[in-house]
Amino acid sequence: MDELVYGLYIIAVALFIYGLMGLTQPRTAVRGNKIAAAGMALAVVATLIEIRATSNWTLIIAGLVVGVALGIPPALRTKMTAIPQLVALFNGVGGGTVALIAWAEFLETDRFTGLDPAHGLVVPVVVASLLASIIGSISFWGSVVAFSKLQGLLPGRPISLGRLQQPVNILVLLAAVAVAVVIGVGAASTGVNPWWFPVILVVSGVLGLMVVLPIGGADMPVVISLLNALTGLSAAAAGLALNNVAMMVAGMIVGASGSILTKLMANAMNRSIPAIVAGGFGGGAAASQESTGDRTVRSTSAADVAIQLAYANQVIVVPGYGLAVAQAQLAVKDVAKLLESRGVEVKYAIHPVAGRMPGHMNVLLAEADVSYDAMKDMDDINGEFARTDVAMVIGANDVTNPAARTDPNSPIHGMPVLNVDEAKSVIVLKRSMSSGFAGIENQLFYEPQTSMLFGDAKKSVSDVMEQLKAL
Ligand code: TAP
Repeated sequence: MDELVYGLYIIAVALFIYGLMGLTQPRTAVRGNKIAAAGMALAVVATLIEIRATSNWTLIIAGLVVGVALGIPPALRTKMTAIPQLVALFNGVGGGTVALIAWAEFLETDRFTGLDPAHGLVVPVVVASLLASIIGSISFWGSVVAFSKLQGLLPGRPISLGRLQQPVNILVLLAAVAVAVVIGVGAASTGVNPWWFPVILVVSGVLGLMVVLPIGGADMPVVISLLNALTGLSAAAAGLALNNVAMMVAGMIVGASGSILTKLMANAMNRSIPAIVAGGFGGGAAASQESTGDRTVRSTSAADVAIQLAYANQVIVVPGYGLAVAQAQLAVKDVAKLLESRGVEVKYAIHPVAGRMPGHMNVLLAEADVSYDAMKDMDDINGEFARTDVAMVIGANDVTNPAARTDPNSPIHGMPVLNVDEAKSVIVLKRSMSSGFAGIENQLFYEPQTSMLFGDAKKSVSDVMEQLKAL
């Protein structure tokens, strides 16, 4: 029977890895997700076979029913713009589960007396359980804060103790380590009072709260990715404690991929992970900068935009967070279709951190049936702006800011951006002169080739469509 279980675990792990490979491309992402989900189903079946004799089936079935009932409805109903908080919630539940599993392992006290030869390497088991409980609890409570900030249950601005924040965080971390040492030393000698374990969960939970509360709401996607990596690591540690291969490997995959994703997101924003965790950037409601100094901003009309688009050879659409807020993707697709039917080539320029989550724009445009071939990555499209007649920037701001290239004093200097300013004509659709996530002015809006079509993106695009039809 052991061979069967191990065989199933190996197939499950292979499916996780194959599924993850699918997630690297928008075209194969849905299939990749299904493959990984099949792997997880197989791992669950293998675990049930493994524990069959000793199981309390009523509890297991009750757990499955509650999980399905609580998990599926929000996953089906959540809007695309709210996916980051759903991910935070699901990730938090994973971390919390790991912490509780570690606690349950602890209650099997024979593992913690250090005297049980049946379990062989007791020290690694104790260390792994303690790591799983600390990291899992940090991840759970950190994710709860991330969810609450994105859902508007907590203010998005940084909530911090100011200069005391870092020293207090370090003290709480030291307290968690101290409790872990008490448990570990006790486990290796005379045994441990079971009440120490809830203490370690509470102290680590406080650490999770203290670390995430000072981070601005707009930085949450990166933080969620980081917490996701932590959940993976805690699951790997719990897998070690439970001697469960599938859990160990799945945890390591999540830990590694989450860490890589966090690093890529931070790089694409030209920020370091420590700077993000230190908080204070973006800060939720970004500072609005209405001042235009003595520079001129040209405002335009839907009719004028329609004429420019109709007479263009090539148009590049640059979508951003505002397109997602306005839900303008279908309207944009309709305009593109009409233009294409009149011989205009339309492409979409996708910046890696446009919007508020990885792949946000790809998913949004795919929802409107925009073909993946038309969606161009930044590196592939940047060379094309110079020979493009019209760049239509829809609800994007920071990812088009030429200051990232040209102004060494800009907070986003060094962040790779779309070279929209090189297009012959630039039309920016947004509601006002407000700044984007980074809270800084966009030089692009003041360039001589730029004109602004002010208004909600969906309404503006629909107005342009009406004008185009009339031409
Ligand atoms: P932003 O720079 O945030 O700009 C979005 C713009 O959309 C705003 O300036 C806003 O201007 C406009 N807008 C909002 N609602 C609108 C509506 N209904 N109709 C029309 N316009 C609307 O967005 P971006 O260019 O996509 O850049 C993303 C930013 O988020 C980057 O700074 C990036 O570093 C950061 N970030 C991204 C991620 C990921 S993974 N994607 C994660 C964390 C942070 P008005 O208010 O004037 O309309």
